[in-house]
Amino acid sequence: MKIRHRRLRQNPAIRALVKENQISTSDFLVPLFVVEGEGVKEEIKSMPNYYRMSLDNLKNEVQELWKLGLKAVLLFVKVPDHLKDNEGTEAINPDGLMPRAIKAVKSVCPDILVFTDVALDPYSSFGHDGVVEDGEIINDKTVSILAEMAVMHANAGADFVAPSDMMDGRIGVIREALENAHHTHTGIMSYSAKYASAYYGPFRDALDSAPGFGDKRTYQMDPSNSKEAIKEILDDAYEGADLIMVKPGMPYLDIVALAKQKTELPIAVYQVSGEYAMIKAAAEKGWLNEEEAMMESIMAFKRAGASIIASYFAKDVAKLLI
Ligand code: PBG
Repeated sequence: MKIRHRRLRQNPAIRALVKENQISTSDFLVPLFVVEGEGVKEEIKSMPNYYRMSLDNLKNEVQELWKLGLKAVLLFVKVPDHLKDNEGTEAINPDGLMPRAIKAVKSVCPDILVFTDVALDPYSSFGHDGVVEDGEIINDKTVSILAEMAVMHANAGADFVAPSDMMDGRIGVIREALENAHHTHTGIMSYSAKYASAYYGPFRDALDSAPGFGDKRTYQMDPSNSKEAIKEILDDAYEGADLIMVKPGMPYLDIVALAKQKTELPIAVYQVSGEYAMIKAAAEKGWLNEEEAMMESIMAFKRAGASIIASYFAKDVAKLLI
């Protein structure tokens, strides 16, 4: 035999030498769930070892993340029911939980990058990502609110706003609003190819944001489509997105790989709550080795072409890397 593939696999040193992809702490975006209160750190039932935190604990957490080499966080807030309405009014409150969370993070860790979720669902009495009229999710009205929300986040110190709602035309409108408000350095990470997925279940528990009626299929993408993802990505790039995202992660690695061929923008991927929950649950039952399954899933994102990985495993991975 002339060709023996196993020569390059025979010991750790040669395997390390020919490794095509490496995982680093700077690949990660750490999602964080913020709640009102003091001293709050409550575990999310369907996301073992993941917590909702009040601002004081959030401050401790980001300092710990920074020390571990993690350089970016993605903030989500849980809004109490009495502040929810159809227009998501609380989403543009400059004294709301999100702007206070942004400032809290920056006050203790000024160099960590703060990404903020821009979508109405945590603020919506219907649990939808847009204003509802006669059972319909109204696009353009929603987009104007998102633009206000993005500027408010930038005012509070966000480095990147991350629209996760899948309304049409939002990137262009948000970019224009940011420019008009002189936030020329504030970036946009667009959830460009976000699928209507069953894997968001635990996240909706975390924020109590499940849709009150129907589903999200009139705005999030149909899992059967891939060309449509590229259309979405290219349009967002044209409208001024700095980073594009594919979501969920593992079931959509083909989309990540395709996006890598079709766009020059850095690609982010979101390993969503259901993906985290699946690995955790199987590990809890002793059916999977958690650490190995976690590392393999992260490596899959790198191999597919992602530059940025949003994952609830970020901290666990970082601890393994040091
Ligand atoms: C909503 C939003 C969702 C997630 C991030 N932003 C859920 C949804 O679309 O219902 C899901 C993240 C996860 O499951 O980890 N704007």
